[in-house]
Formats: sequence, structure tokens, C-alpha cells
Amino acid sequence: MNYKRHLITAALPYANGPVHIGHLAGCYLPADIYVRYLRSKGSDVKFVCGSDEHGVPITIKAKKEGVTPQQVVDKYHKIMGDAFKEFGISFDIYSRTSSKIHHQTASDFFKVLYEKGSFTEQTTEQYYDEEAKQFLADRYIVGTCPKCANENAYGDQCEKCGTSLSPTELISPRSTLSGAKPVLKKTKNWFLPLDKLSPDIKKYIEQHPDWKPNVYGQCKSWLDSGDGLQPRAMTRDLDWGVPVPVPGAEGKVLYVWFDAPIGYISATKELTSNWASYWKDKETRLIHFIGKDNIVFHCIIFPAMLMQHGDFILPDNVPANEFLNLEGDKISTSRNWAVWLHEYLIDFKDKQDVLRYTLCANAPETKDNDFTWKDFQAKNNNELVAILGNFVNRTLVLTHKYYEGKVPEAAQYIKEDLLILEEVARFPDKIAQALEAFKFREALAEYMNLARLGNKYLAETEPWKLIKTDAERVKTIMNISLQITCNLAVLGEVFLPFTSEKLFALLNVNPLKWGGAKQTNNMPAGHLIRKEELLFSKIEDTEIDIQIQKLQAAKKKNEEQVSAIASAKTAISFEEFEKIDIRIGTVLEAEKVKGADKLLKLLIDTGLDKRVIVSGIAQFYTPEEIKGKQVSVLVNLAPRKIKGIESQGMILMAQNQQGELSVVAPVKNNVNNGAGVK
Ligand code: 2FM
Ligand code: ZN
Repeated sequence: MNYKRHLITAALPYANGPVHIGHLAGCYLPADIYVRYLRSKGSDVKFVCGSDEHGVPITIKAKKEGVTPQQVVDKYHKIMGDAFKEFGISFDIYSRTSSKIHHQTASDFFKVLYEKGSFTEQTTEQYYDEEAKQFLADRYIVGTCPKCANENAYGDQCEKCGTSLSPTELISPRSTLSGAKPVLKKTKNWFLPLDKLSPDIKKYIEQHPDWKPNVYGQCKSWLDSGDGLQPRAMTRDLDWGVPVPVPGAEGKVLYVWFDAPIGYISATKELTSNWASYWKDKETRLIHFIGKDNIVFHCIIFPAMLMQHGDFILPDNVPANEFLNLEGDKISTSRNWAVWLHEYLIDFKDKQDVLRYTLCANAPETKDNDFTWKDFQAKNNNELVAILGNFVNRTLVLTHKYYEGKVPEAAQYIKEDLLILEEVARFPDKIAQALEAFKFREALAEYMNLARLGNKYLAETEPWKLIKTDAERVKTIMNISLQITCNLAVLGEVFLPFTSEKLFALLNVNPLKWGGAKQTNNMPAGHLIRKEELLFSKIEDTEIDIQIQKLQAAKKKNEEQVSAIASAKTAISFEEFEKIDIRIGTVLEAEKVKGADKLLKLLIDTGLDKRVIVSGIAQFYTPEEIKGKQVSVLVNLAPRKIKGIESQGMILMAQNQQGELSVVAPVKNNVNNGAGVK
């Protein structure tokens, strides 16, 4: 089908951390290359993205940093937007889901479905953390995946096998807030009955066997698996997000995976008053670039929502990449096992295209792939410098040396020249074909083949020798080399936009569109080019060593944290253990101890008596926070004086790797004071 226009989206990243190479390789770089290609061909295209600012990952981050979720998203929205811009990711808009326009759009979308009766209202038992007094949605809960036994599957999804889950499917669930075993509590939510919609979804998926095998295969296996699709709650008992706009939904927000993809619509609305033609006209081709963990949401849930709504077109393709690893290990923000874009730019100033090149050449298109610094160095030194840079540099240098920078006339073509020109003219279509099939590695490899062809032509014709014997012939050779250089600038714009810009400037030519690369007379004889400048420079071992050391330091720190778990103490007998008397008690009073910023003086009802205990927890609990809490008390510890106060026992604490303390208490509330801990 011939489309009138394209709408290209790249997954809205959670605004809870800076951008790393895994993000770039996963979807932003391929999407950008594709969009640049469409623009270069003169297509009507809009490229939208923005920050995903709702959902549990944001609130978890806020809690960790002791700030509000809004503060978290404000900070990272800016950092992420800047990083994308610096790497030439050419969004037409980088919007955000905490914006008013998005809240309105998502809210209206929900209302339409609600009024159409698309949802089923269900009161179900959801997990609840009694300590945190909060329902545990999505990433607030982890447990063992029922499909692949991964012990750290989230309540909404197992990242290991990609299965979409609901918290009650997890085996041995635990709260990520308190670590406690959650309890079930009744609550009402609105569900999208995916089971009933399954035939329509199936029909839609089966219309797209052309999708990448990893995407199509995953969708088919969900649809065809034993249980098929299950109803899925589109609302959550949380306080951060888009409020559910229907009666009886106080204290509830839209499920983040309900509102986030609608973010593509709101971003388009914000971008252009003509937004509706990008979303409602069947002649628009909608393509979502994503990472593999987002497949179910973009191929099944969002299309189901769009079908229910009825006003919008459906995604025509959802090219998803697999994951990029780093030096053989999974990229991880918490373990700082990542190459952060903002840090890269400090160490490799103006080398954005080197990273773009490496990530595209190594893109995890069909399977997970590995980024290594050694490979990055090799790609730069052996390909960008030695092939592309070398060809362009030789061409520009010789043009200045022989013709004072003026394009010489191609007086007469011989057979070899005509063959080369013919071959050169085939590249735009070859590269286009690969790009249209979302085979970005192949497209880039073809692009490099054009530079290789140029090098081969120079090596075979040896103009530097011929200049002494056949100056006329050299003019033709150099003219052809310059035309190839110009074509490298045109076709390179999609992969290496910074280099292409520089190249056009050196050639003193206004940037040309894709079709321009079919021409082999882009620069007329006599046209003056600028003095040569190196496009790429060698990356030395020392520069790579610094990066490797940085990663080794991160690894060491992680290992130290793991080994910070104290080794086991020597064994004791049961009799010895029985001497220890630990009871459950409740903190009745708590106050700071004057002149000691780590200590709290607690009055505790131990069930046996009411006694004073001095505890070193003032940095982790305020008196108000600890008051009323149940704690475990070692009651038969000999009394001792602390800061002049007699402390009659000790309360038990768990210490995490950051040295933070939390009280050890019964998970269920119905344990009486005085109950023994055995
Ligand atoms: O996985 C993620 O980072 C999600 N924030 C992607 C959302 S894509 C879309 F639906 F907005
Ligand atoms: Zn799994």
C-alpha cells in the first residue's frame, strides 16, 4: 500500500534515570535512522517521543531519593531530552506524560471506553502491604515467574521471558517497599477483557506476518498459549498518575501502560494542529519502534484499546529490537553497569557518530548482542578511520594538491569508470531496501561498502602515480571520487548525521535528498571545495583502558556490596539459642536523646513490662515514625547505660548494604505484645 504519510514513534522512556547505550541501540537509533531516511526521500513524516512519567518505577525512585515524583520526572525529563538531542535523535517533539494535554487525552480516551462498556468492573483481591499501607501494583511487587522461574519477576511482567503477568500469578510474592509478604485485600478496578477481544486481536496480528520474526513469534505464542489472553486491569490503587475519570474511582489512577501509549497521541496533538490526520486517516502508516520487553503492550494491549475506541488507526508495524549487553553482562542501572550518554560525551567529545556507528553495526536486531569497548575502538580505527575517513581524506587532499580545490572535469570515461558509476548508482536502492525491511546493520554495512568501493577505485587507478604520465585521466578519476564522496554525504546522513553535515560543508554543497545519491554529477567542474579536515581520528588504547577501568571499578564496587554480607558465625547449640529471649513489643513513646544524633529513647510495651530502651536508629526513623510500631525486643540482655540512660534490652534491626536500619517486626498484625520470637 502506498501511504500518504508516516507517524513514527519511539518508546517513551521512564523518566527515572539518564539514557544509556542500551536505550539508544534498542529503539531510538533505529527509529531515528528510519525517520531520517523517510525525510530524505521527501515523505511526510512525524517522529514523536517523550518521557513516560507515571508508573511505579518513578515513585520508587522518588521514595529512594526522598523527593516527590514530580521532582524526579522534571529532573530526568530534561536530562533525557538533552541526551537524545546531543546524539542527533531527531524527534519532531519530545513531550511528557505529566503534561496537561496528556492527562486530558488519556482521561478522555478512558471515558470513551468506559461509556462504550469496554471495561468490566471487578472487585478482586489485590496484594496489599500492611506496613506501607499501600496496594502493591506492578513493580511494587516481585516474585517468581510462573513461566520461567525467574525469582525477580515484576508484578506486571517478567523481564526474563517477556511474559505479561498480574501480581497474583507470582509465586512467593514480596513487597518491594518493605520486603514483606503481602496480604490480599479487596478493591475495585476496571479491566480490559482481553480474553473476549482475543479473536479480533488474533485477526489483527495474523494480518501482519511481515513483522519481524521475534515480534510476530512472541505475539502468536501469547495468543496460542494454553490460557490465551487474560483480562487486564487498566486502573491501579496508586496516587501518582492520571486520575481515573469515573465515579467511584477516588484514589485510583490509570494503569501506566494504559496512559503511556496514549502519550504518542498527546505528543502528536502537541506537535501539530493537523494531528488527527496522523491518527485517524487510513493513509497514515503508524510504526512503533520499541525494545523487546514492550512487545505485548504495543502489539496486543494498545491495539486492543485502539480497536475499542474506534476512532484511530492501528500500528502497521512494531519493529522491536532485542537487548544490548555490555562487556558480556546485562546492562543495569542499579549496578551502574552501563555506558551513560552524558558521560560518553565528556570522554569522547564530538564523537557521537562513532557511537551511533558502533551501535548500529552491532544492533541487537535478531538476538541479544554485546557492546565491548575493544570492538568500539576497532570499529572506529579499522572502519571509520581506515575506510570511510581514508577515502574521503585522500580525495579531498588530492583535489587540493592537483587542482587547488576545484572539481576537475571528467573529460572521458573509460570502461572501468562506467562500471564504477553504475555500481555507485545502485547503492541508494540497496540501502533503501535494507532500511525498509528494518535491517539497519545490513544497510550500514552496504553504506560502508560504498566507501570501500571508492578506496578500491583509488587503489586500482593510482592517480598519485598517473599524475606524472596521464594528467587528463587523473581529472576523470578525481571527478568520480568526488562524486562518490558526495554520495557518501547524502546516504550517510541517516546513520552519521554529524559526519554528513561536516562532509557537505567540506564539499561546499547544500545537503541533498536521497535521490541526489543516484546522481553522479552533483558537483560541476570548477566547483570549489573547502580545505580538507579529518572526519575521524584514531582512538588510542589508553582511552579505551580508561573506559574498561571504569567498568571494572563498578564491578568491584558491586562485588564489595555483595561480600558486605557478613560471613556466618560459628555454630551454637539449641540450648544456647534457647537462652535468648526475644519478644514482640510496641513502641509507646519515642524521643531524641539530647547530644546524640543517632539515638532514640524508646518506651516499649514488651508484654512483660514497660521499659526504656535506647536504640541507634535516629537516622532512619523519626520519633513519630517509630511510635506505635511493633518491634522485636531482646528482653534478657543485661541492662547498660547509654548517654546516662539505662537501656533495658535491645530492639532487633536489619541492616542493608547502604548501612540503613529497619526494624524487624511481625508481618501479620495479630501478634500480641509479649509473644516470643522463636
Ligand atoms: O519500558 C519503558 O521504558 C516504558 N516506559 C515504555 C513505554 S512505551 C509507550 F507506551 F509509551
Ligand atoms: Zn519469566
